[in-house]
Parts: sequence; C-alpha cells; structure tokens
Amino acid sequence: MPISRNLRTQYHIKDLSLIISFLFFLYLLLHLHLHRSSSTLPSFHTNTTLSSNSSNTTTTPTTLRHILFSIASSSDTFPKRNDYIRLWYKPNSTRAYLFLDRPTPISSLSTTTTLPPTLIYGNTSKFPYNFQWGHRYAIRIARIVKQAVEQNDSAIRWFVFGDDDTVFFTVNLVQTLAKYDHDRWFYVGANSERYELNEYFSFEMGFGGAGFAISHSLARVLARVLDSCLMRYPHLYGSDARVFSCLAELGVELTHESGFHQVDLLGNLFGVLSSLPLSPLVSLHHLDFVDPIFPNMTRTQALEHLFEVSNVDPARILQQTVCYDTLNSFTVSVAWGYAVQVFEGNHLLSDLLSVEETFKSWEKKGEDLNSETHLNKALSQYFEMGCINRVSLKRGHDNIIYVCTAPRRVDPASSQMFDQGRIPTTAGRPTG
Ligand SMILES: *[C@@H]1O[C@H](CO)[C@@H](O)[C@H](O)[C@H]1NC(C)=O
Ligand SMILES: *[C@@H]1O[C@H](CO)[C@@H](O)[C@H](O)[C@H]1NC(C)=O
Ligand SMILES: *[C@@H]1O[C@H](CO)[C@@H](O)[C@H](O)[C@H]1NC(C)=O
Ligand SMILES: *[C@@H]1O[C@H](CO)[C@@H](O)[C@H](O)[C@H]1NC(C)=O
Ligand SMILES: *[C@@H]1O[C@H](CO)[C@@H](O)[C@H](O)[C@H]1NC(C)=O
Ligand SMILES: *[C@@H]1O[C@H](CO)[C@@H](O)[C@H](O)[C@H]1NC(C)=O
Ligand SMILES: *[C@@H]1O[C@H](CO)[C@@H](O)[C@H](O)[C@H]1NC(C)=O
Repeated sequence: MPISRNLRTQYHIKDLSLIISFLFFLYLLLHLHLHRSSSTLPSFHTNTTLSSNSSNTTTTPTTLRHILFSIASSSDTFPKRNDYIRLWYKPNSTRAYLFLDRPTPISSLSTTTTLPPTLIYGNTSKFPYNFQWGHRYAIRIARIVKQAVEQNDSAIRWFVFGDDDTVFFTVNLVQTLAKYDHDRWFYVGANSERYELNEYFSFEMGFGGAGFAISHSLARVLARVLDSCLMRYPHLYGSDARVFSCLAELGVELTHESGFHQVDLLGNLFGVLSSLPLSPLVSLHHLDFVDPIFPNMTRTQALEHLFEVSNVDPARILQQTVCYDTLNSFTVSVAWGYAVQVFEGNHLLSDLLSVEETFKSWEKKGEDLNSETHLNKALSQYFEMGCINRVSLKRGHDNIIYVCTAPRRVDPASSQMFDQGRIPTTAGRPTG
C-alpha cells in the first residue's frame, strides 16, 4: 500500500533526521568548544550535505539581475493579462520566465521584445489531485519552482514567483530581498488581507498572487525534493499551499514582508491604497477584480499612471504620510503618487492609519459599500503647507489630487521616510 510505504519512508526519514541532527548537534558542541573565543556563530548551512556549492560568499549588493522571476500564466489568461507583465518586466534588466501550458500566438509574436521568454509547464499527469473545488493546474504551477531552478541560470540569488496578474515594483523588491542573506534559507512573502483565508490556508503561507521569494540555496534544495513532496499533498487547493507545505517539511517558515499584497478584495481599493504600511510596495495582485485605481481611467491606464510615478520615486510609492497644518487646523494625509486627503481639524494619527473600508469583501460581492471619502474642503490651502510644498500637485477631474514627487533617492531600507519639512512632533509614523 502506498500509504504505509509513505509512512515507512517518513519514519526512515525521521530516524535519519534524528541521527543527522544528533551528529550536527555534536558538531556544534565541538565547534563551539573549539571556537569559544570567536564571536561569530557557525553558519548553519556551511558544509551540510544539503548546501550547494554555489554559496559563493560574495558581498556585492543584490541587484535586479540577481533575481529570477517565474510567472505562472496559461493560454486562457495570458491574452487578457499580458499588459500587467509589460508594466514591470523590462527585457534588458529583468530576468524572468513566463510559464504557459502551450505557446500562444501573442507570446510567439512578442517574446523577444517586451515579454519574458516562455517555458512550457512540465507534464504533471502522474501527480494526484483531489481537492473537490479546485483545479489540478495547481500542481504544474507549484512545479515551476523546480523548472526555474533547473534552467541553471547563473548568479541567481532569489527565485521569485508570481501570477500573470501580479505586478511587481522591482526596485523595492530588490531592496526588500537585499536585507536577507541569499545563501541562507529564506521564504519571503505575505499572507492575505482576509482573516478567513489565512485561517484556512495558514498565517504562515506566502500567498501566491502576492508573489513570494525563495533564496537560491533553499530553492535548489526544494527543487530536489519537490516532486516527491507533491505526491503527499493531493488534497490541497492551490500551488502556494503546496510550496508552503514542502517548505514546512524542510523546516522553513515564512518571513513576512508587508510590501507584498495579495489583494483579496473587490471594488474600490482607495481605502487600502491610501493607508498602506510603510514597507516599500513590492507587489499588487488581483487588479482584474478591483475598480481601476484612478478614476476615469481603464485598469491598464490607471496602472500605467501609477508606474509612471513609481519610476520617479519607487521607494516612496503609495507610502502614507500625515502632516498637520496647525495654524489653519487641517490634517493632510498623502499617499505618495496616489492621493492627498485633507481633513478639517487635527485628527489623531492612529485614526488616519486605519484602513477605510471602501472595498467589498469577496463574500459580500453584491453589497454596495458606500465608498465616499472625506475629501478636501480647502483646496486653495494645499500649496501653503510646509510638508507638501516640495511636490507639485495636479488636480484631476475628480476630487483626487495626483502627486508628482521629485526624485529623492530615499533608501527604502532606511527609516528616513519623513524628510518632508515641518512635521509636528505629534505627526509621523513610528518607525523601526
Ligand atoms: C567546507 O568544506 C571545504 C572542503 O570540503 C573545506 O575546505 C572548508 O574548510 C569547510 N568549511 C567549514 C566551515 O568546515
Ligand atoms: C565547487 O566549487 C569549487 C570551487 O569553485 C569547484 O572547484 C568545484 O568543482 C565545485 N564543485 C561542484 C560539485 O560543483
Ligand atoms: C565567486 O563569484 C565571483 C564573482 O561572481 C567569481 O569570480 C568567483 O570565481 C566565484 N568563486 C567561486 C568559488 O565560485
Ligand atoms: C536592450 O538591449 C538590446 C540589445 O542588447 C538593445 O538593442 C536595446 O537598445 C536595449 N534596450 C534598452 C531599452 O536599453
Ligand atoms: C504526460 O505523461 C503521460 C504519461 O505519464 C502521457 O500519457 C501523456 O501523454 C503526457 N502528456 C503530454 C501532454 O505529454
Ligand atoms: C541544468 O543542469 C542539469 C544538471 O546538470 C541538467 O540535467 C539540465 O539539463 C540543465 N538544464 C538546462 C536547461 O540546461
Ligand atoms: C469622468 O469623465 C467624464 C467625462 O470625461 C466626466 O463627466 C466625469 O465627471 C468624470 N468623472 C470623474 C469621477 O472624474
């Protein structure tokens, strides 16, 4: 029986792991003993059997060229979504593969120009899938981890995975990943905005649409065990749950980065986008399901607009800054590159950081939430306020003010996000 064999194998593996752990423990003791005076701790992955030879301890900064993106698409969704990929994929600077079930006319036409090279999913017919309401393409998507690694591309430090409707802000992604040692095992991503989904899938799962990153050392090990691991999880719904499970077996948990956004929301995202956390924006997802993020634009136009601003000042895009005009008693909340809201009176910072519920939840698709915002009553005062007088404001047809910032070269890794003139001591978000 395959089950008992699996169990037996698992017990063997357990025994083996116990022995290895024991030996490793002995080694650590010995090592610590011998190097008691040394202040550096032994590196966990040095010379273990799992560690690959590739851990070339370079200290050069991580750049976009060190990241390999793998985008899961399909011949069905690709024609509708390739515009999303074009937004962030730049042939000369981004390294990526687009995974399809079969070559599509569009991809064969433009692969060499504005879209990543295409790879065809491996054959997954031997893998079981029995989640009742799901689709077995989850397996082939999970396996792109293996397929990407097996391309043997050189100097890859991070393997990043996303859907064809994930848009990445690559400069911020680089900064986010550069904080971690790619030679150690890291699984970086974020969970859903929706409590029930996290509860169901796990708060420790990197949701696939938000995108997640796996360090090269971990990815190589995962690639090796992935196929056998996938056999154990036919009952799971998606590809991300499979990757999460196989990483859990390797003892790796998610490193949460709040710049990744799964966006399991519907309708008007204004409330979310105007009060995002300070972490540099890494990704947005599910943009087919939400209203265009700028009024009177198509989804694509709105995103292009956002990327235009993002190209000027990527680190700050959509970051919320709150300023007080104490003289005239106004409170201004800026979501860089997106919107300015002016409130009468001085509002407590914490009230402005909470997300205004302009969106709809997936359960209440029909429910029409009132998405009115408390927008401005004092437009003429904008340019007189110290905190925003270094940016040019352009008023749209609507009440939303578009902000164009000059390049500020803010280092996204730093906490210096508030270099904007006079901010009263009561303002500014706590950092660090
Ligand atoms: C790792 O192995 C190499 C060769 O096998 C050896 O030269 C090196 O000293 C080892 N490093 C550690 C930290 O044991
Ligand atoms: C590991 O790296 C060393 C030094 O670069 C090289 O000589 C050796 O062939 C590599 N081993 C493998 C298995 O790739
Ligand atoms: C480490 O990387 C540097 C730069 O990429 C390369 O020149 C060097 O040969 C590598 N060393 C090993 C041991 O692989
Ligand atoms: C990208 O690279 C190609 C060939 O190397 C070059 O012809 C082209 O001008 C480059 N494009 C950009 C936008 O740099
Ligand atoms: C996938 O593999 C199975 C056998 O494992 C084979 O019957 C099937 O034709 C293959 N499908 C494709 C599309 O190659
Ligand atoms: C990558 O390397 C492996 C092992 O050397 C090899 O089997 C595989 O064909 C290589 N992949 C590509 C795309 O060259
Ligand atoms: C959108 O544009 C139309 C005409 O171009 C205009 O009448 C309408 O007021 C605009 N709506 C908003 C919200 O700006």
